[in-house]
Amino acid sequence: MSTSSHLYPMSSGDDQHSYIHNSSYQKVAISGAEEKTRRCILEKLDLQLSSDFSTFRIADFGCSTGPNTFHVVQSIIDTVKSRHFKENNEHSLVPLEFQVFFNDHTTNDFNTLFKTQPPSPEREYFSVGVPGSFYGRLLPRNSIHIGHTSYTIHWLSKVPEHVCDKKSMAWNKNYSQCNNLLEEVTKAYKVQFIEDMDAFLDARGEELVPGGLMTVIGECLPDGVSLYETWQGFVMDTVGDCLMDMAKSGITSEEKIDVFSLPVYFPQFSELKGEIERNGSFTIELMEATSHPLEGMPLTNEFIISTFRAFLTTIIEKHFGDGVVDELFDRLAKKLYKHPIDFEMRKKQVVYYIVLKRK
Ligand SMILES: C[S@@+](CC[C@H](N)C(=O)[O-])C[C@H]1O[C@@H](n2cnc3c(N)ncnc32)[C@H](O)[C@@H]1O
Repeated sequence: MSTSSHLYPMSSGDDQHSYIHNSSYQKVAISGAEEKTRRCILEKLDLQLSSDFSTFRIADFGCSTGPNTFHVVQSIIDTVKSRHFKENNEHSLVPLEFQVFFNDHTTNDFNTLFKTQPPSPEREYFSVGVPGSFYGRLLPRNSIHIGHTSYTIHWLSKVPEHVCDKKSMAWNKNYSQCNNLLEEVTKAYKVQFIEDMDAFLDARGEELVPGGLMTVIGECLPDGVSLYETWQGFVMDTVGDCLMDMAKSGITSEEKIDVFSLPVYFPQFSELKGEIERNGSFTIELMEATSHPLEGMPLTNEFIISTFRAFLTTIIEKHFGDGVVDELFDRLAKKLYKHPIDFEMRKKQVVYYIVLKRK
């Protein structure tokens, strides 16, 4: 099975299970990086924002339905405006106009995105929806001054070949993710990750203007850590166990589980850095890993389950059919109550914060 991730956007709409209401974990990490983005724009954006500079273009790749994307975009705009103000004396100041390109898969809920964007005049930009995969070109050459992407590039363009092939050494038997327990499976995922990262950076390298910046935020594994050792890996492995229990109860089938594996790969920090360096389209202006701001605060089971549900629902429904999602997450809740996550013992993913400059 080749499972292309374009079929699986985050949960749409604005009900209790939607991404809109279940993206605060990501928001906290993004907000934690806001001051760094500000400083980078002030110090490293290599563009003369002279008085004849009229339209400043920003793109968010993999924006989902909000609200995080609106928050990021406004913070970039505020900083660019203050730099523009500093670089031009008040009298000759022609106000900058901003155009923002919101990208996500064609199946993303763009209606909800645009319905919930801030109203004007609070919204100081012209919005454009850009449907399509960010693993290819989406925008004209040399058109974007600042690009942003957050919590996106762990989503691969597809499930790697062979991991759903029962005859292959790389068959991901018994697991529904690349948790790094099976070497051949990890290798197959890594090949796909390298191919996808290259495609992402090549495309952005063409779209950004020379001297333009790209901020990339997400989570990866610290060097030497495997996904199964982290609490996030443990939760997803528990989802896999729940699916198995459901197969035993006849709610789904083992055949379906055998060929289910998420198109998601969490690289280790130096692996991610190595791929950016190898691609060579950008210089790395800043690349650091920090712990998630909520790390150390015990997250409740409800919070974890609803966060996972918001990104797993579409993919689970597509593969296992309607009517399994409620049952699956009820079972997950019961399992996590019975075997609570030991946050102290579990290793931790880290938040990476990267600022790239187009060469
Ligand atoms: C976890 S959400 C992050 C949303 C938002 N950036 C944030 O930080 O809250 C991941 C988003 O990436 C999108 N995505 C994944 N792969 C993509 C691709 N190849 N092209 C465009 N969007 C993609 C998903 O559809 C989803 O909306």
